[in-house]
Amino acid sequence: MSIITHFKRKTAVLLVAGLMLLGTKTYAQSSNSALSQETMLYITLGLVFVVSILVLLVAIYVLQLLKIFIKKEMTEEQKTQPSWWAKLWAKWNAFQPMEEEEELLLDHDYDGIKELDNHLPPWWKGLFYVTIVYSVIYLLVFHVFKTAPLQDEEYELEIAAAEALKANKEADLVIDFDENTVTVTDDPAELADGQKFFEQQCSICHKADGGGLAGPNLTDKYWRNGGSITDVYKVIKNGVPNTAMISWEGQLNPLRMRNVASYVLSLQGTNPPGALPPDGELYEPEN
Ligand code: HEC
Repeated sequence: MSIITHFKRKTAVLLVAGLMLLGTKTYAQSSNSALSQETMLYITLGLVFVVSILVLLVAIYVLQLLKIFIKKEMTEEQKTQPSWWAKLWAKWNAFQPMEEEEELLLDHDYDGIKELDNHLPPWWKGLFYVTIVYSVIYLLVFHVFKTAPLQDEEYELEIAAAEALKANKEADLVIDFDENTVTVTDDPAELADGQKFFEQQCSICHKADGGGLAGPNLTDKYWRNGGSITDVYKVIKNGVPNTAMISWEGQLNPLRMRNVASYVLSLQGTNPPGALPPDGELYEPEN
């Protein structure tokens, strides 16, 4: 291969890889900035994949070079020695050499079809011994000591576990409030849940600290739609018609909506840097 074709091939590989990288990049930029975490994950995985392939190509290339150099260094005798793999192959197959086949020939002959009394290949016998050992272990585990459930029991167990999970979920979802009776939660775990969701889904428009971007500042006392927990809950649940603030009811169960609303209210007075100016009407909590 001349240097020029070699060069051309390498450039082609680099070009394709580069285009792939570019492709993911433009994709990331052209879709709106509200990229979900899942999309980001896929993009990251894609990049990791492309980079791994590149690394692999380089590794193969270097190995090929090494092989050439090693071949050059080897003596004639070393070159003719059977490889490690060839030795293993011969050991596990233990072929009778062709020249000695006569010794194995059985004395019958069916219309010219002869039979060799060959022993089974070691790999086959190895597998057979493994199955014997496995059957003993299987018998002890499943039928003597009964340490693991049999198929039917396993099925029953899984059904029971799924039912317990379902019951648990339903118990968790006891919702004893609606948009008019909802109250602020001060449970740290629930607020953390609200915060996590807020940072994932709401920060695009309201900023992670609530200071506001496309959506208004949520950290001051001025509200367009009222600043009580029921007001905030209703805005999250129903959205504000004809604005970018959509209804989140389809994506959040009431408990989570309450967590997010409570988190939003917990931002009151945090006064983050770069926050948008007050917007709407002053709302003073009653207590
Ligand atoms: C696509 C942008 C966008 C996203 C995402 C978004 N909002 Fe909004 N949000 C707005 C806009 C715009 C308004 C102002 C609506 C109006 O004019 O009353 C608003 C208003 C609000 C208000 C009322 C503010 C006020 O002054 O009355 C609350 C509370 C609020 N959003 C919470 C959230 C929460 C919680 C989330 C995440 C679940 C969220 N928003 C996601 C754009 C968004």
